[in-house]
Amino acid sequence: MSKNKYDINYDKALEYWADIPPTIDGVLGGFGFISDVDINGSQIFLNSLFSDENPPSRIVAVDCGAGIGRITKHLLLPNFQSVDIVEPDEKFTNSIEDFVGGDNMKSKIGTIYKVGLQEFKPEKKYDVFWNQWVLGYLTDEDLTAYLVRCRDSLADNGIIVVKENVTSSGKVEKDEADSSITRSLKQYLKIFKCANLKRIKQCKQTNFPSGIYPVYMFALIPQRNNDVNKNCSIEGKDTCN
Ligand SMILES: C[S@@+](CC[C@H](N)C(=O)[O-])C[C@H]1O[C@@H](n2cnc3c(N)ncnc32)[C@H](O)[C@@H]1O
Repeated sequence: MSKNKYDINYDKALEYWADIPPTIDGVLGGFGFISDVDINGSQIFLNSLFSDENPPSRIVAVDCGAGIGRITKHLLLPNFQSVDIVEPDEKFTNSIEDFVGGDNMKSKIGTIYKVGLQEFKPEKKYDVFWNQWVLGYLTDEDLTAYLVRCRDSLADNGIIVVKENVTSSGKVEKDEADSSITRSLKQYLKIFKCANLKRIKQCKQTNFPSGIYPVYMFALIPQRNNDVNKNCSIEGKDTCN
């Protein structure tokens, strides 16, 4: 399995985010204006999961790489009884309660874990793990191990959601500014397979402006066949631009 072949540096990513203001525009890199369309697309995706044959419960979700809690406020709190947060930037974790606002909503925020996903070890079972615009900060190896920990911490009928940019070039592209990578669709599928996860739904976000990366939503559940990741390799032919 590849070991940080793209030179992802967790400290450099944290330094980048330390300078970013705790606003919607800040966490979306100046694209705050796409937030409503994004949340709308996510709600439609979530509704489709809730109307499946074995839907997840609506008890507890976790917002992974939450920033200021944009997704927590507009998507997860309206759909779940409580929401935990994972976010390593202290300025963001300190902003979440104010950003969410309203005593009713604030009281539904559970534990806030101020750690990176590469270190996060879930302490309870979750109905939904929501991972959005964050997995490009993790190395392939740490991402696979993290997804395995999520898989092992799913409640009955629980689902891991991944909503991420993917490259149109089919290659992995590195952004030196925040030490992140954008993976290809193929690379994500390999990683899901290596983590023994089965893709039960995949949708492309619509109505985003042209000129940005395509964004895909994936719903993942444990692959029951434990043989699946024997000979697992995420090396492939992806190269870094
Ligand atoms: C582009 S923002 C997205 C925030 C949020 N998911 C959203 O869509 O509004 C990326 C977030 O990932 C966080 N982040 C960076 N590296 C991380 C890591 N290793 N583990 C967890 N979060 C990380 C940043 O601090 C930032 O809040």
